[in-house]
Amino acid sequence: MITIKDKQFEPFIHHTQIEERVEKLAEKLNKDYQGKNPILIAILNGAFMFAADLVRKLTFDHEIQFAKFSSYEGMDTTGKVKELIGVSIDVKDRDIIIVEDIIDTGTTMHSLIPKFIEKGVRSVEIATLLMKPGKLRVPLQVKYCAMEIPNEFIVGYGLDYDGLGRNYKSIYVVKES
Ligand code: IMP
Ligand code: MG
Repeated sequence: MITIKDKQFEPFIHHTQIEERVEKLAEKLNKDYQGKNPILIAILNGAFMFAADLVRKLTFDHEIQFAKFSSYEGMDTTGKVKELIGVSIDVKDRDIIIVEDIIDTGTTMHSLIPKFIEKGVRSVEIATLLMKPGKLRVPLQVKYCAMEIPNEFIVGYGLDYDGLGRNYKSIYVVKES
């Protein structure tokens, strides 16, 4: 068990299982993207660890960029997210893979996809480590998902609680007190 600030977390997904699932996801991408030279866009901060492990398993040429958007608490009612670090290379006519840590309500991804379509990309897909299907509030097509989890708050492997806990190599779930 681990303690972060006022909360306790218990082991949830062991790093060996994470590695297996990331491997499986990479295999799917390896089948679909040979010869396409896509741009992976890893979403900061949460996706840094997943992205680093994922790209080491990819066998096709690709570029990687990092982008950062304001968190979902800071969003207005139109569901727009604010770009904090943008994508600096030309995405026109390119295949885009957005690499995300977790899809919760789906709001972040839902507002990001049209931004890429506007820029004239050839295709855009989402590759996420985790997804909480029970919480999805918007229509969202997620082609690549490593693991689905129930509606619970987790930390580790890039995911944080109030900025902390990203460093753990396994994933932990909050313990209900
Ligand atoms: P969405 O826009 O509601 O899908 O929010 C997705 C973002 O919320 C993720 O990129 C995470 O930063 C954050 N998030 C959602 N669920 C969790 C969780 O269980 N632990 C840590 N961060 C989470
Ligand atoms: Mg995130």
